[in-house]
Amino acid sequence: MSTTSRTPALRRDKQLAMWRRAMRSMPGGTNSNFRAWGEDTVYVDRGKGGRVWDIDGNEYIDLRMGYGPAILGHADDRVDDHVNERMRLGSAFSLTSEDEVRVAELIKELTGWVEMVRMTVSGTEATMHAMRLARAYTGRTKIVKFEGQYHGVHDYALISVTPDVMDELGDRDNPVGLVWGRGIPQAIAETIIPAPFSDLDFLRRLFERQGEQIAAVIVEPVLGNAQAIQPRPGFHQGLRALTREFGILLHYDEVKTGFRLAKGGAAEYFGVTPDIASYAKAMGNGYPAAAFGGTREVMSMLPEKMSHGGTYAGNRVAAAAACKTLEILRDTDALDTIRRTGERVQAGLSQVIESRGLPYVFTGHPSMFGIMFTEQVPHEYRDWAKSDHDLYDAVAVGMQARGAMPEPDSREPWFICEAHAEGDQVDRIVSIFADALDAALETRAHLQPRGVQTGTAG
Ligand SMILES: Cc1ncc(COP(=O)(O)O)c(C=O)c1O
Repeated sequence: MSTTSRTPALRRDKQLAMWRRAMRSMPGGTNSNFRAWGEDTVYVDRGKGGRVWDIDGNEYIDLRMGYGPAILGHADDRVDDHVNERMRLGSAFSLTSEDEVRVAELIKELTGWVEMVRMTVSGTEATMHAMRLARAYTGRTKIVKFEGQYHGVHDYALISVTPDVMDELGDRDNPVGLVWGRGIPQAIAETIIPAPFSDLDFLRRLFERQGEQIAAVIVEPVLGNAQAIQPRPGFHQGLRALTREFGILLHYDEVKTGFRLAKGGAAEYFGVTPDIASYAKAMGNGYPAAAFGGTREVMSMLPEKMSHGGTYAGNRVAAAAACKTLEILRDTDALDTIRRTGERVQAGLSQVIESRGLPYVFTGHPSMFGIMFTEQVPHEYRDWAKSDHDLYDAVAVGMQARGAMPEPDSREPWFICEAHAEGDQVDRIVSIFADALDAALETRAHLQPRGVQTGTAG
């Protein structure tokens, strides 16, 4: 039987019609470049727990989970009921409610090191303000950012993010600041210094040359936007020591890792205390809640010495969602459930991949992990190119056709939520993966002349 005949066809009529309609009014037919998948763009109807349904009625186990926020599951009754109750009291006053104070208190309690907090609406705003904070506090201009890390869509963040071709990043010892898209002033791009992840020697050389100009290092503690690649052991401890030595602030961008890797996020997981952190996603279970925070000393720039505001910052809907979500994460074993569920999925995938004799590595944490078809454990973004990501992408597309939806780009990790533990979802994810992998291998075997190594993508 040919692969094509084995690949189930999804119903797409309504989505295609919606795409054509949306294309007349929205660039790409979506509100984000990352969702614009051409004729394959997905138009969602609803989600519940670990599952989503598109407007054609196709059902999927969701492994994207909105790129991370729905940590408990879509439309979680506990959070939604609380938000519903609170929102009836009014949402945007540009005054401060107790809900906001509770969010700040919960973030302090859960992290154990954050002393002061300000809410924002998105992760983008959180990193943008946190970067300004570092500049305000140190009086320095430059910020070091790691290749392959994503910190949102403001001008200071869109440097050396996720090119497909690694040559664009320049020489590894002297990387170029690769601007993502037009419209970013060169003067702003020049304030960002790109660096390979997980290389302390590189950083020491850099700090010795330019340390006096560097306000902060911003870091996604794992490459949450590149397979959740982990750093070399000891990197975070070394980075902490090095930044202290040179008077440079350490900014953990915990937008993906916060309240997920551990109750106190990646800072707790790696046992490191940064100076500043940005949070979003998991703190609101899908509502637009975000925040930045840090030590009292650094945050003392606010309110007098540095600008921060926002009509919707701390709005009631977001604050109520964050209160409830953070309380649930604090008071229940949700994070253990998520980790164990991720481990069960990984165990199933391991059996499938090993029985097909393929090399593979799991990257990241079981709650947020990547699958790389490679023999080499990756430590930085450039290593992604050495994996067989074409095979992964084919598997992801095949999984979607079979009722489970990871991102069809290997750089985005799989996100596990609490509700994935329910019913037979783990078994279904594994069997759907197995079928999609077999189909992808079969297609490759048909396309590839005998004797040619499949190997890595290089
Ligand atoms: C690590 C990190 N920082 C910042 C952002 C930006 O957050 P938002 O999409 O809420 O603006 C993201 C989004 O994926 C992210 O992964």
